[in-house]
Amino acid sequence: MNKIAIIGSGRVGEAAAHLLAQKSLAKDVMLIDVRPGIAAGVALDIQECAPLFGFDARLHGSTDIADIVDSDVVVITAGKPRQPGMSRMDVLDENNKILLEIAAGIKQYAASAIVIVVTNPVDILTYQLWRHTGFPKQRVIGQAGVLDAARMASFVALETGFSVQDISTMVLGGHGDAMVPMTRYTCINGIPIAHFLDEETIARIVKRTREGGAEILALKQTSSAYDAPGAAIVEMIEAIHYDRKRLLPCVALLDGEYGHSDIAAGVPVVLGAQGVESVVELNLEPVEIEAFNESLLRLRDDLKTLTDNS
Ligand code: 2OP
Repeated sequence: MNKIAIIGSGRVGEAAAHLLAQKSLAKDVMLIDVRPGIAAGVALDIQECAPLFGFDARLHGSTDIADIVDSDVVVITAGKPRQPGMSRMDVLDENNKILLEIAAGIKQYAASAIVIVVTNPVDILTYQLWRHTGFPKQRVIGQAGVLDAARMASFVALETGFSVQDISTMVLGGHGDAMVPMTRYTCINGIPIAHFLDEETIARIVKRTREGGAEILALKQTSSAYDAPGAAIVEMIEAIHYDRKRLLPCVALLDGEYGHSDIAAGVPVVLGAQGVESVVELNLEPVEIEAFNESLLRLRDDLKTLTDNS
């Protein structure tokens, strides 16, 4: 991969850029931010780590979205962050406006890129990006499930004491309070967690996963999570870069899968060089279908609240 652009040089964008450089996933990493000097400063700071970590990637910063030109992957982290007590929906209108401007820029300057949307509310903004760029749905992906599944795996590791290396988790639905952590598919080296943990502990893990972002925001007060979100972005880009065909939960455009169309939500996908190469449909049990449908119902309601209806 030659060039990756990150639009938004806040903490999530910075964490992702640093990891991308360290892992040498692109020759050039272009950071964009509307605030003068911010992207250039972040880029230079990371560039100065190069001798310490031994990477040859070149970091660049700009205020001009035209500088995303020729990017293979564009990541969108720009937007108003939520404050303690706010839900991801409280930033919808403002972030939708920002996203529509960015969508126009991507269409103009990087029309063949794979786009990863991270800005919240991520499911809705992934859908909006797809609608406003007209890009094939394979090339429009949202980052949420990789982060939520990593959080869930961390909590399972903390509760059981097992290595995270043996823990696999899956989280479906919207990246909000109604997300659906799939306990039935949560295993320790293939053994379902119900073998090791009682119902109460599993329920605690589910709740903590759903509230994972809010827990960190409540602790830090002045910032949302950024280390794990940055790492989650890079895990997705690694799958694309190496054409790994990873099976990861991502926000994808649905076209009949799980009985839903014309919406984007978290589902297991195969992620490779083409982006979302397929959506994997699981045989859900009635209670899981109900939870998934409830989560998507909320997304549809939220979409209807967009004030300018664009
Ligand atoms: C999170 O879950 C900010 O949505 C992001 O931490």
